[in-house]
Amino acid sequence: MTSKKIINIGMVGYGFMGRTHTNAYKRVGDFFPELKYKPVLKAICARNKERLTAFAEQWGYESVETDWRKLIQRDDIDAIDICTPNNMHAEIAIAAAKAGKMVLCEKPLARSVAEAQPMVDAIGGSGVANTVYYNYRRIPAVTLAKQLIDAGKLGKIFHYRANFLQDWTISPELPQGGEGLWRLDNAAAGSGVTGDLLAHCIDTAMWLNGGIKDVSAVTETFIKERVHTGTGEKQKVEIDDACLFHCHFENGSLGLFESTRYARGHKALYTFEINGEHASIKWNLHDLSRLEYFDHRDESIERGWRSIHVTDGDQPYMDKWWVPGLSIGYEHSFVHQVADFLKCLEDGTTCHPNFNDAQQTQKVCEAVLNSAKTKSWQKTGVKWTN
Ligand SMILES: NC(=O)c1ccc[n+]([C@@H]2O[C@H](COP(=O)([O-])OP(=O)(O)OC[C@H]3O[C@@H](n4cnc5c(N)ncnc54)[C@H](O)[C@@H]3O)[C@@H](O)[C@H]2O)c1
Repeated sequence: MTSKKIINIGMVGYGFMGRTHTNAYKRVGDFFPELKYKPVLKAICARNKERLTAFAEQWGYESVETDWRKLIQRDDIDAIDICTPNNMHAEIAIAAAKAGKMVLCEKPLARSVAEAQPMVDAIGGSGVANTVYYNYRRIPAVTLAKQLIDAGKLGKIFHYRANFLQDWTISPELPQGGEGLWRLDNAAAGSGVTGDLLAHCIDTAMWLNGGIKDVSAVTETFIKERVHTGTGEKQKVEIDDACLFHCHFENGSLGLFESTRYARGHKALYTFEINGEHASIKWNLHDLSRLEYFDHRDESIERGWRSIHVTDGDQPYMDKWWVPGLSIGYEHSFVHQVADFLKCLEDGTTCHPNFNDAQQTQKVCEAVLNSAKTKSWQKTGVKWTN
């Protein structure tokens, strides 16, 4: 018998994110034994019962549901975890919040600011615990970057630069829509690289460097038509294949962001670099345990970039894992997010990023797309508080 408080998880979607979140719920208690709450894999939901049942058996879910509405109605479910394509986040999140369930939602919050606002309102109205999986904040080297910035090591910040580069949609033969390819279908995704990839860069950027005030952007759709999996017909491609934007942050620094799925050779190259008055830092997802740091206050004869291997027990989260020198990976950022969510429940505090934070990122994404469309600077209207 456990003395822990049980949180019964009902997860919707068992694809890529369904697996990362499930792994996190399974691992969190082993590596964060002090937590008072314990997630239990109560039910998994998707439409194909056969595949769903196989997933449930493989990963250890107690039951399956093929209709997410039924999942939300169940009294034995405490938290709904949304791992579906972007067009389904709003309906599920609003219904779950109204039913008094905690809501853990994948990013981007929704396809637009207008679609996301009722989600924020429903969460606010019911007061349920919530979080949005902008998980990169919880990679130890990225969390260390936050600690260095908050400690004032960089001094005044002048520049924030971020890229997210991939190369998987270059072939014109790739269809849009359907399983695995909903990201190319604007009706399901809401946008292309802006909501899918730049949203991550924007969340990290505002967390590290404060609110983004205004933006000027360019987008491009390189392949104009693709067969739609649903209709079998060639249809106009409405997502952005690539997006570049620059911006002003509230603190006076300048930002420069680029994302594309047409950078041959790059699979998931998320990078950022921040230049301050005293020091600079840079980070790269392909080498995620390292934070590069340059401090101008070092003695000139030994001054240079240091590569900090973020694996020591006094660095963020690392006391939970192995011994100094041994690194952890992508999946651990989700374990950390679940651990922080459970700790916040225990303490009665807010787990960031929450729905309101994710709505601020949504505002920047929308301003970026509007700027590209109108070829003009756009104010974001962001109110950044965390
Ligand atoms: N945090 C991150 O780093 C990260 C990474 C990848 C994806 N995501 C986000 O996670 C979400 C899911 O992406 P993914 O890559 O896991 O997608 P995926 O295509 O791998 O999985 C989507 C899942 O949703 C299920 N689904 C679709 N329609 C459904 C319905 N009507 N009822 C129940 N289930 C349904 C599918 O069966 C599938 O299991 C998206 O919002 C995406 O933007 C976030």
